[in-house]
Amino acid sequence: MKKPWAGRFKEKTAGSVEAFTESISFDWRLWPYDIQGSIAHARMLARQGIISGDDADKIITGLQEIASEIEAGKFRFRQDLEDIHMNIEAALIKKIGPSGGKLHTARSRNDQVALDLRLYLRAEVEGFIKTIKKLQRVFLRLAQRHADTIMPGYTHLQRAQPVTLGHHLLAYVEMFQRDRERLQDALKRINTLPLGACALAGTTLPVDRAYVARLLRFKRIADNSMDAVSDRDFALEFLSIGSILMLHLSRMAEELVLWSTEEFSFIELPDAFTTGSSIMPQKKNPDVAELIRGKTGRVYGALLGLLTTMKALPLAYNRDMQEDKLPVFDTVDTLNRVLTILTEMLPKVKFNKKRMQETAAGGYSLATDLAEYLVEKGLPFRDAHEVTGRIVRHAIERDSELHELTLDEFKGFSPLIGADIFKLLTIEKAVKRRKSRGGTSPDEVRRQIDRLRKSL
Ligand code: ARG
Repeated sequence: MKKPWAGRFKEKTAGSVEAFTESISFDWRLWPYDIQGSIAHARMLARQGIISGDDADKIITGLQEIASEIEAGKFRFRQDLEDIHMNIEAALIKKIGPSGGKLHTARSRNDQVALDLRLYLRAEVEGFIKTIKKLQRVFLRLAQRHADTIMPGYTHLQRAQPVTLGHHLLAYVEMFQRDRERLQDALKRINTLPLGACALAGTTLPVDRAYVARLLRFKRIADNSMDAVSDRDFALEFLSIGSILMLHLSRMAEELVLWSTEEFSFIELPDAFTTGSSIMPQKKNPDVAELIRGKTGRVYGALLGLLTTMKALPLAYNRDMQEDKLPVFDTVDTLNRVLTILTEMLPKVKFNKKRMQETAAGGYSLATDLAEYLVEKGLPFRDAHEVTGRIVRHAIERDSELHELTLDEFKGFSPLIGADIFKLLTIEKAVKRRKSRGGTSPDEVRRQIDRLRKSL
């Protein structure tokens, strides 16, 4: 097929070059946005008297027909027409004749591709904000159910202090809250109109960019035409937010893997969401969680890839930038799949309360409670820490837990310790008393749940 730029060229484009430079094999999925953008552009051209109302009508009807054809799978995307923009424009000209050739007035593929990607990302990001909310609700329901379930809290993966499972789960809700906020904030910049920048310098024709922005619901208009066609910050922001989101999900996934081991036995993953081994009959593997963890790598790869592509590109548009789409599409698909499967699996995970509770009690996890008891009795915290440390060492040597020591043994370390200490040395008391704002007590956890519910 004849290229729109054929006038300048004596030779035909080499087939190998067409195959090398094409983007239609992946940017075809921008078609709804390309058509939406073109319809708005045509309306503006007519309103400004740059093309006739009659031409605009033909263009719009033609584009709508093309949309239906693509939707019905009846449209043939051609590699020799390079990308989605030229495929649609060529089909339009074929369909409606010379009026179709007027659509590309006061427009370049450079502002068109930026427009399409922004419209696409805007829709996807709005979708992600909703899917993350859904996942948060799943976590909140679990947290509500387990507001009193006691488990060991870890630092350095060593038992540290007892916490409630609800509290642990809410930590993830907070992470997702920030992810949502970041997406919301990125939307401001995604939601900026590049169209009207043309190739790079603006146009001599009397366009009305504000009108196009209104038609396409853009809150801002890119104010510098060179920046408008060169800017891919919005895609990089999306990829970095996606990377942080995947980081959060990979931490969750890692805990699911760990907790489902025989050694931890904190949870049982649903059969339908695990896989077996081809050789070891007893195995039940946490593949979903592992793949969530694993897919984090490819999302980071997408971010690093696009950062590297954009690095040191001279202004304005360069063909390098065509490489922006694959990492963005792949990240959108990965995030969608990961969020969906996790939202499906999580409510079916069985928590082994008894096992969690038993594990929380061991390992001198109440030592901090003893130290804080001494603080309340007037000892400076550093001294209380020292005394408690000695008591723990003594208990380890005697092979007993703190609550198994006698009052006399306690008093041998500090006369401040009274019989009331025994009431405090239970994990139930330990979590209940951690009522400070953001703490692990069931009451505080319920307060956190209420607050998060409201923000959803
Ligand atoms: N397919 C191109 C891309 O994805 C569209 C813009 C091409 N512009 C150009 N002057 N070659 O970036």
